[in-house]
Amino acid sequence: MVFDYIDGGADDEVTLARSVSRFRDIELAFDVLADVSEIDTRTTIMGAPSASPFFISPTATSRLFNPRAGELAVTRAAHTAGVPYACSTLASVSVEDIAAANPGTKWFQVYVWKDRGLVTEMLARAKAAGFGAIILTVDLPVAGNRERDGANDFTIPPKVTWRTASQGMAAPGYLWDLMTTPEIRPANFAHMRIDGGLIGFINAQFDRSVTWDDARWLREAWDGKLALKGICAPDDASRAVGIGANAVWVSNHGGRQLNTSPSSIDTLPAVAEAVDGKAEIILDGGVRRGSDVVKALALGANAVALGRAYLYGLAAGGERGVTRALQIMDSELRRTMALCGRAKIADLTRDLIFERRLS
Ligand code: GLV
Repeated sequence: MVFDYIDGGADDEVTLARSVSRFRDIELAFDVLADVSEIDTRTTIMGAPSASPFFISPTATSRLFNPRAGELAVTRAAHTAGVPYACSTLASVSVEDIAAANPGTKWFQVYVWKDRGLVTEMLARAKAAGFGAIILTVDLPVAGNRERDGANDFTIPPKVTWRTASQGMAAPGYLWDLMTTPEIRPANFAHMRIDGGLIGFINAQFDRSVTWDDARWLREAWDGKLALKGICAPDDASRAVGIGANAVWVSNHGGRQLNTSPSSIDTLPAVAEAVDGKAEIILDGGVRRGSDVVKALALGANAVALGRAYLYGLAAGGERGVTRALQIMDSELRRTMALCGRAKIADLTRDLIFERRLS
């Protein structure tokens, strides 16, 4: 059930599958006899220096995958790798505890809740804890239909049914960790009474009437960098730039929201054209290989965000697992850049994408 929560998507998972497979369809051209003795992957993302053009995407409730350390494991691994860590509003460790574990670049993801006071309070806490940018997720007016979770009786926190109990028995180490650590809940709202677990919280607090006016309100309420995450349409990308977003984040929420929405790598070129250099572009969705990072940058992204790619590592091996996942991504990126004959991030340009000619 935990694997399915990470691995699964909405409805028939068409978007999820295409997000990965469309990267495979893109072919890389390559230059030869270029000096690639020094590969330099350093860049800046939303004004922050980063060792790589990839970073940790906000994902809810990391203690589900590693009940002892959760977000602390991920944020420490991000710091070790020298890349930004983006924390979900629905994290299972508080922003203050995350800040204590990671002195490096940290960003905070938000939704516009019904209770705007709660949002401003969270912004103040994130700022005080040293989070330098916020990410407004805009593709979740309602939760997507994740059928694997329903079939598994999966809830946050997990509840005991015969299905979950039999799955728990098959993973005694996980069950032990779950039973000997505090209940998994949205830790940033520890002071609030929350009925119905995470979904109860989402249902109670998600405001379906949120519009561009509210995004503008958030822009006013936060004086640091702001990214709008969950953009698909070029017009929305232009609107995001219009309200003063520093980054337009192309995403379909990992194929977990609107099924049969297009893959991010397919929507990226038109979004990049609409943004026209007036904001940075971040992409997530389907990035599993270093070559995927190269393709996204060549097609106009400044950086990519990783979700499942590190969550599998977290579930398999805690902090070491995340560190390993980031190392694999780094070495694949460096190898791909060398094979493409491009030594620097700025060299990953559109001409790397092979255009097929129909004869
Ligand atoms: C939360 O945002 C999720 O996709 O599970």
